[in-house]
Amino acid sequence: MMPVTPFIFEFFIYNSLYSVDWASSVSKELVVHFPENEDRSEAKNQAALEAYMKTKFRESSLNFWPAFRPLLLLKDLNGEWTIADDNPGVKRFFKKLLELQGATEQGLNSVHPVTKKHWELLKECRFFVYQIRNNIFHGSKRLGDVLDENHKKRIGIYQLFLACLVNAVFRALGRIESTSAYIFPEVDIPMGNGHKLHLSRDQQIKLQKQDLMRPADAWLIRLVANHFDSDSLMDPPLAGSCLFYPAACTDMITALLIGLPYCTDFYFYERESFRFENTRKIKRGLCTLFEQVGEPVVRTSCHVYTFTAAGIERSLHWVNGDNLDFLNTKTNLAVYFHRGDSCEGPGSSQNWDSSLFPALTEKVHSGTLRVITQGMPGGIHPLLGRQLETLQINSDCPFSHDGKYFIGTLTAFDLKQFQDHL
Ligand SMILES: C[S@@+](CC[C@H](N)C(=O)[O-])C[C@H]1O[C@@H](n2cnc3c(N)ncnc32)[C@H](O)[C@@H]1O
Repeated sequence: MMPVTPFIFEFFIYNSLYSVDWASSVSKELVVHFPENEDRSEAKNQAALEAYMKTKFRESSLNFWPAFRPLLLLKDLNGEWTIADDNPGVKRFFKKLLELQGATEQGLNSVHPVTKKHWELLKECRFFVYQIRNNIFHGSKRLGDVLDENHKKRIGIYQLFLACLVNAVFRALGRIESTSAYIFPEVDIPMGNGHKLHLSRDQQIKLQKQDLMRPADAWLIRLVANHFDSDSLMDPPLAGSCLFYPAACTDMITALLIGLPYCTDFYFYERESFRFENTRKIKRGLCTLFEQVGEPVVRTSCHVYTFTAAGIERSLHWVNGDNLDFLNTKTNLAVYFHRGDSCEGPGSSQNWDSSLFPALTEKVHSGTLRVITQGMPGGIHPLLGRQLETLQINSDCPFSHDGKYFIGTLTAFDLKQFQDHL
């Protein structure tokens, strides 16, 4: 029952951490649990954990603030959705979380000690989250309550807060990489020929704040590169080999990063001109990643951005037109990426993964097509289905909706079979 289950699991982790007497454990080099008896309340154990953390972070606050870095992604922390009529504590929690977010921003930008006030904020937030866990465990919340969109969103935030707190515990114990990597992995994107592009946590956060990347995308990029074994790629991409993403809106950066080892050109289609305006936003996103970014060439039906990656000049073509127009282009398709599309609302209702797929294979001129798609709308062509594997991206962040992708590489032999279906 999403999103309660991940919240409860996160709480289990926190619970198993605060039931340990860390001061004794570290000095004796074995795990010592607090005794389980009436004098030893859970609140006492949580306070003991914080006392231990305080001693550790008193030496240096450098490792404390990065644990809370994911809070910087949260927007609208005083919006309507942060108020629950039946629980005034909710509003207060979000007020405190907003303060913690501000302190984290300061802490990450300068040497900023963790003060008594910060520990109080942390204590208030974790106490509230503990009460939420009790409400769920003792059944005062009904199923209907959790189906409420605002409530779902709030539980996702409680989970994120717990993940940050757990991260801070590991940091206090000197295990920095074990948890920070879980929230946002740093990624080295293979670019062919031994080149790599490093995608840092700061870049990810910047891109997410610009609404150009989603929280779980670093995992997607990493797992796709593993799947395609991009590390072993020897040759740079052929000039003109391209990526196609239909109904992309402004969701370009992740696909672009995935396609870099194989493409010099990237085609993103968007039919609505009102969504198709913000050249500055796209340029800013590219500047976050690449050093040489040219001024965009802006035409009514297409914006072209040039940038250099791994010493090769590349072009991003943001096309204001119907996806189907791509089938009339003279291009050499190397990567097909498609997500977030549907038959509803602004979705394209075009079946790119089934009825349109054979026509798409006609655009492949170098004998290999790499596919990353969600199979929506319209499902997956049976021939294509045989070549694809499922990739489930961890919902390690409360904002990722559907982490299911289908991925595979089609060879010239596979592609030929689609021609019979034209
Ligand atoms: C549901 S949104 C998804 C956007 C993006 N794929 C994502 O996951 O963020 C679908 C987008 O496709 C655009 N769209 C719908 N039909 C289209 C078509 N036939 N050709 C090009 N764009 C289309 C819509 O305007 C909308 O911006």
